Formats: sequence, structure tokens, C-alpha cells
Amino acid sequence: MKERITITDVSARDGLQNEKQAAILSAQEKVDYITMLVHAGLTRIEAGSFVKPSAVPSMANSQEVGELLKPVQEHYPHVTFAYLVPNSKGLARAKDIGAKEVAVFLAVSEQFSKANINQSVDEAFANIAPVITEALSYGMRVRGYLSNIFGYDDLPFSPAKVALRAKQLLDMGCFEASLGDTTGIGKPGTTAQLIDALTAADIPLSKIAMHFHDTFGTAIDNVAVSYEKGIRSFDASVGGLGGCPYANSPKGNLAMEDLVRWCQREAIACDVNAAEMLMAAATFIREKLGK
Ligand code: HMG
Ligand code: MG
Repeated sequence: MKERITITDVSARDGLQNEKQAAILSAQEKVDYITMLVHAGLTRIEAGSFVKPSAVPSMANSQEVGELLKPVQEHYPHVTFAYLVPNSKGLARAKDIGAKEVAVFLAVSEQFSKANINQSVDEAFANIAPVITEALSYGMRVRGYLSNIFGYDDLPFSPAKVALRAKQLLDMGCFEASLGDTTGIGKPGTTAQLIDALTAADIPLSKIAMHFHDTFGTAIDNVAVSYEKGIRSFDASVGGLGGCPYANSPKGNLAMEDLVRWCQREAIACDVNAAEMLMAAATFIREKLGK
């Protein structure tokens, strides 16, 4: 039997953050949608983002989402709802709604880091360290994103640099580093090279997740190579929705439906056990977004 994979759904966060309208979905609509994801079997779901509301208006109602999710959480205690936090202000908002898990997000490209969070890469790592420590002191789990893993406008593909920064996230207390192909430029060859660099840096692959965007349709091939190399944790987004509003040419994420189909084809177990509910969720969100 092949080893199962863990999936983190990012559609209610990465999927919706690129939508310009503040009230693209009401908090209740988001919760209805997220509940459908739970019914599909997903156990790890990013429910929102406590960033500066003017920076990402469609995430401004994340606090209300967190409040409305409380009864769902009570009913499904095995499910983790996670929230992005960029700083201590975001962490305080996450604490207010009783978040059990938060995700911090760093980058390798200076250009992207400046555009996304108005800080250099070094500044961002220094600033987030006490935020992680504080989150851990509240008993929260902290996941760390690292963007631009295959390079960016100002940065060629630098696997050793990515490994160094991923290690830094883990050393700061993140239980997992999710490596983001922010603009979807990764290919199976570069994916393999990157994972080899992680191994060479003595990073346990059990602490790494891959977060592929799917600009050129290579995401699922990148997943296959990652799995072969030992990665067992993947991010995906229902309907393939997603993109960072501060990245150049962001495209959708790896579609959850593609990942689940790949699992079925490869006889690899994953959490999704009600495909019809996943399809219903995809239809729901596409209709809400008019896509
Ligand atoms: P800044 O303007 O430099 O922050 O933004 P500041 O500290 O100078 O504060 C300015 C104002 O914002 C102040 O309000 C703060 O209180 C407020 P004022 O005094 O002017 O009234 N503020 C906040 N309000 C609510 N919640 C907060 C918060 N922080 C400050 N947390 C900052 C810096 C990092 C805050 C901003 O740039 C930001 O929020 N950026 C987030 C951008 C974002 O969400 N990008 C998408 C997520 S990353 C991604 O998608 C990539 C990923 O998917 C992986 C991949 O694909 O690679 C994860
Ligand atoms: Mg992303």
C-alpha cells in the first residue's frame, strides 16, 4: 500500500484573496462553502487571512468567518481551520477567534517580499520570529509559507537558498514549511532539484509541503515527482482558484479535483471521501464568483 498524503485546502484563502471585491462572499457564504469542504472529507482548511484589510479586501471578514465556524469546529473537532497572519496584529485577531493554527508567509525574492508585505526578506524573517514564538505560547500550531521557490523576476532559481530559508522557518518553530511556487513556473526537473537540495540540507521531508500554482499545467506532474521524492503533504484549491494579488502573473492553484483524481489513479489514500460533495463545493464557489 502506498503512503497516504495530507491535503491542505487553500481555496477559501488563496482562492478568494485574488478577488478584488471586499464582500465577494459574505462570511456566512464562506462558512457554508467551508462546511461543504468538511463534508467532502477535508481535514485541513485555510479559512481566512488576518492581513491588512485594505491590502486584501476579500479577506476582511475573516474574523466573522472564524466566529461563525465555531459550531462547525465543535461538531468536527478533528478538522483544522487555519488563518494567515503577517504580524502581531494579525495574530491578535486570530487569537480572538480561538484559532488553533496560523500560517506565516515569507518569501525568497526581495521584489516579491517588498510588494507583498512591504519588508525585505531579512526584515520579514526577523519580524516574524517573535510572532511565531507568541503564537506557540498560545498553544497554536504555526505553518510557514515560503514563496518564489522556483525564482522570481529578480531572482534565478536558487535551490540552496530556498533550503536555507525553509530550514530557518522550521528552526523558528513552524511544524511544516509549505514551499510556494507562487507564479506556477515549476517543472518536474526543477521540482526534483529543489527536493534534492532540501535533502542535502538535512531537512526532513516530513516537514515539507508543496504549494503549486498551475500557470503552465505542470502542477500535477510536479506533485508526482514530489511524491516520488518523499513529500507527503500538498496544498490544493477547489476549482483551481487562487493567486496572490501582489505577485506578477499569478495563476490558479493546483486544482483539488486534479489532485484527488491523481490520488485515485495512483491508489494513494487522501482525506477526500465524498467526491460528489467536492463537486458541489466547486459548483457553489464558481457560481458565487460568476466563473
Ligand atoms: P504596512 O502598511 O507596511 O503595515 O503593511 P503597517 O504596520 O505600517 O500598518 C499600516 C496600517 O495597517 C495600520 O493601520 C495597521 O494597524 C494596519 P493605521 O494605523 O494606518 O490605521 N495593519 C493591520 N490591520 C489589520 N490586520 C493586520 C494589520 N497589519 C497592519 N494584520 C502588511 C504590512 C504585512 C500588514 C501588509 O502588507 C499586508 O497585510 N500584506 C498581506 C498581503 C497578502 O495577504 N498577500 C497574500 C498572501 S501571501 C500568498 O498568497 C502566497 C502563498 O499563497 C504562497 C505562494 O503561493 O507562494 C501563501
Ligand atoms: Mg499561493
